[in-house]
Amino acid sequence: RKKVLLDVDTGVDDAIGIIVAATAPEIELLGITTVSGNIDLASATVNTLRVLKLLGKDGVYPVHMGASAPLYRKVRYATEVHGSTGLAGQLQEIPVDLPKNTAAEDFMIETIDQHPGEITLVMTAPQTNFAKALAKRPDIGRKLKEIIFMGGVADGRGNESPRAEFNIAIDPEAADRVLNCGAKITMVGLDVTQKALLTRKDLQALDGENPIVDFVKKVTADYMERHHSLQGIYGCLMHDPLAVSLAIDSGFVTTTPHFVAVETDSTYCDGETVCDFTDYWKKEANVHVAMELDREAFIDFLLNRIEKAGAF
Ligand code: BDR
Ligand code: CA
Repeated sequence: RKKVLLDVDTGVDDAIGIIVAATAPEIELLGITTVSGNIDLASATVNTLRVLKLLGKDGVYPVHMGASAPLYRKVRYATEVHGSTGLAGQLQEIPVDLPKNTAAEDFMIETIDQHPGEITLVMTAPQTNFAKALAKRPDIGRKLKEIIFMGGVADGRGNESPRAEFNIAIDPEAADRVLNCGAKITMVGLDVTQKALLTRKDLQALDGENPIVDFVKKVTADYMERHHSLQGIYGCLMHDPLAVSLAIDSGFVTTTPHFVAVETDSTYCDGETVCDFTDYWKKEANVHVAMELDREAFIDFLLNRIEKAGAF
């Protein structure tokens, strides 16, 4: 099984990513770290713990809290997309206590040191936690098996500014550190995840009367309404579940290696992930950039995993 560390800012699509990661027979989930992003750190952590309880996995995987703000920038959330609780008011009735264990970056360092060369780090949030780990231990990037992250955009059409995707726009300095950490990196950008649309029809096809299916239906319905009024798309974008699923089956996307840099000091392009597709700079490729998505295969896989989640 693939050893995975998952870093999340649990809103709607992170929650579905957690469902996939925590129930996949192919994955040995070593722990989940939380960070400020879609919502404040405490809420992201509470949401994570609630999803694990829903799955009957509370206490199975360690959860560690990380950064409550970006490295240098002012904190910003995405509650207009994910609702004021991050989970559209779902799972509120589940009581949880915030963890009082090691900080996320120290947990990451310890875990990577225990399994050098074996860990896949999946990040579906601003990359502050791993950037902090790298500041303490610049060598740990090279001790990972790989990084798969949801973030950035290869076609320059952002969602947090005209050019920048949310996870990178929130903490571009963190992303800059991560992109240069020496790990094998796969970037699952917005241009690809925007094709990972879960439609109402897909959801209607979800079988099974169980609390997990029920949760997915409710949490995505709310997201669809919000997203529709914001961006005119009717459906729920499976940004984060796609990144998690690639740790199980990399074949859902094609990738090509390129040099990728992030803008950290730009009036109009701040947080943009600049992909050198034409090899203009003649720099060594640091990122496998996701290009094409096999939507049908991925959505089939995802629906199947959600239906079966209660059984694992
Ligand atoms: C990313 O931003 C967040 O709102 C989502 O959870 C996803 O990780 C999409 O831009
Ligand atoms: Ca996320």
